[in-house]
Parts: sequence; structure tokens; C-alpha cells
Amino acid sequence: MIELGVNIDHVATLREARKGAEPDIITAAKLCELAGAHQITVHLRQDRRHIQDRDVELLKQVLQVRLNLEMAAVDEIIAIAHHIQPSTVCLVPENRQEITTEGGLDVAGQVERLTSVTSDFHKAGIKVSMFIDPDPEQVDASAQTGADYVELHTGAYANAHDKDILSELDRIAAAMARALNSGLIVNAGHGLTVRNLPAVAAIPGLNEVNIGHSIIARAVFVGLEDAVQEILEVLSAYSDHV
Ligand code: PXP
Repeated sequence: MIELGVNIDHVATLREARKGAEPDIITAAKLCELAGAHQITVHLRQDRRHIQDRDVELLKQVLQVRLNLEMAAVDEIIAIAHHIQPSTVCLVPENRQEITTEGGLDVAGQVERLTSVTSDFHKAGIKVSMFIDPDPEQVDASAQTGADYVELHTGAYANAHDKDILSELDRIAAAMARALNSGLIVNAGHGLTVRNLPAVAAIPGLNEVNIGHSIIARAVFVGLEDAVQEILEVLSAYSDHV
């Protein structure tokens, strides 16, 4: 089955709106786990706008499923990741003005540095994913760094209209085939919802999706466990596909 990582950043966004304790991020993570999520994903941003250092520490202690830490490849956060020891780190670009992660990481522009960052994580037993646009140059560069995974940015697909939807899907499918050929494991994420997920899940070879905003938004109305299960139900239709 294609696995589901639930990104719970926006539970922390709501908590930080009042700088209090509610809604509790650990309760959210455990409910996702109970609902069948395979992984919890959080992004410890340099500006700490939602997830805080303590959240990541506590999640590492209480989770039974994998913890995937999204992060910029900067020294401060790299040191925190080495201390926390998540199962995986997903390296993302970070721009302080952005509302959310806007584009993929430019791996091709920093192969040497990211190779060294990846090798240090591997020595610590932490797997590495590169969050990239579905672009052949970025796929090849990611393979060069020795990364275990690429996570293909599905934001352009999620925002596309009419015939652009198909061309964005084609880009994702081509990047996925290229990455699989290079020995990378392929994940996808950003902007995925119950409605636009099936077309991505139908592409052969997909390992995992990471979904945040649409699950947390849906949870406001139906509760977190149901919101997670709605996505798992979509993914289960593709369980024999890979
Ligand atoms: N994957 C990565 C690498 C991301 O940066 C994000 C957004 O934080 C997501 C997945 C989840 O995106 P969304 O919240 O749009 O589902």
C-alpha cells in the first residue's frame, strides 16, 4: 500500500495563534497513528512559526510510527535533527516570507554540500529525502547526493486547471520513472486532497504521500481520525498497484 505521512504543522499553527497549549500536538499525532497513519511529518522552520523544538523532542519519544522531519539544510536545524534522530529528514527550501513551501529544493545547485549533509545523516542512521520539483535535472542531482528518497512536489499539479492538470501529471510520472530508475524511493506531497490524490496514487511506483493542510482542514468538520481515514481509503484502492 502507498503509505501516508500526516503533516500536523497546522495543529501547531492553531496553537501558536494563542501561544497556549491547545490544540495539543501530541494528541493530534497519536490520533493520526490510531487512525492508521504510517508516519507523522513536521516541519521545524527556522522562524518557529508553528512546530517548536519541544514538539519534535516529545514526538520522537511518544510515536510508534516513523517521525519525518522536514527541514532546511542549515547548520542550526541539522544539529537539532542529529540530536532528535528522526527516522527520516526531508530537506526543503525555506523562505521566511512564504506562506508554505513554495517550490522544490535546488539540489542541482548544491550537490556537493547536500552530499556531505546526506552522508552525515546516514552515519547517524537517519534516512534522507530531497523535496524537489518533478524536474529531471533535480532528480539526477538527488541521486548523485546519495539520498534515499525524493519527495516530488505536487503543488503545481494541485493548483493546475484544465489541460494543465494532465501535463503536470505527466511531469510527475516522468520524474517518478526517472527517480525509480536511479534507485531512489519516490514519495509525493503538497496540496494533495481526497479529490486530487487518486490520479497521483495511480502512477506506478509511488511509495508514500505526505499530506497536511487538507487533512487538518477536513478534521475541523469530521474529526482527525475520520479525516485521516478518508485519505487512507483512497490509498487503499491502489494497494496492489506498485
Ligand atoms: N511535503 C512537504 C515537503 C511539505 O513541505 C509540505 C508542506 O509543509 C507537505 C508535504 C504537505 O503539504 P500540504 O500541507 O499542502 O498537504
